[in-house]
Amino acid sequence: MPDHTAPQEAQADAIARIAHIVAARRDMPGALLPILHAIQDTQGYVPPDAVPVIARALNLSRAEVHGVITFYHHFREQPAGRHVVQVCRAEACQAVGADALASHARRALGCDFHETTADGSVTLEPVYCLGQCACGPAVMIGEQLHGRVDAARFDALMHALRADDVPMRAQEEAQA
Ligand code: FES
Repeated sequence: MPDHTAPQEAQADAIARIAHIVAARRDMPGALLPILHAIQDTQGYVPPDAVPVIARALNLSRAEVHGVITFYHHFREQPAGRHVVQVCRAEACQAVGADALASHARRALGCDFHETTADGSVTLEPVYCLGQCACGPAVMIGEQLHGRVDAARFDALMHALRADDVPMRAQEEAQA
């Protein structure tokens, strides 16, 4: 019989952390957004279990909380892949080829925006200005900004990203 103890403990820990985040911010003016940001910063996404906890604390309905999570593209409802790749879709980048880059990125990764590649490596997200408007098309990989990214450069960046993943995945497989 599979041992589900560890995942259950991890889930209980996550819920306790979320409850702590909510309790620390519930009396702030406009508390919902700071709470959602803090949860995503610590958990990597806003899990479904967080919604009733937030709703209860802020005296909102679950639908209201869920509506805000889905309104802002920044918030994720699923865990991200090992890397988050953001492609700028704002005007200055569009003027220098960001639409073509976005199409290429979706094709090359085999997933759409707000989705994760089948191997769990990359989550692709749109972003609306990275402050690199003079160097578009701009891409952010994790915390690293890249300017003047065309299809070939995008492929090279993804190749480097996945090459970095190999030792990490080998380690994960050895621990499994
Ligand atoms: S419009 Fe793309 S970085 Fe500003």
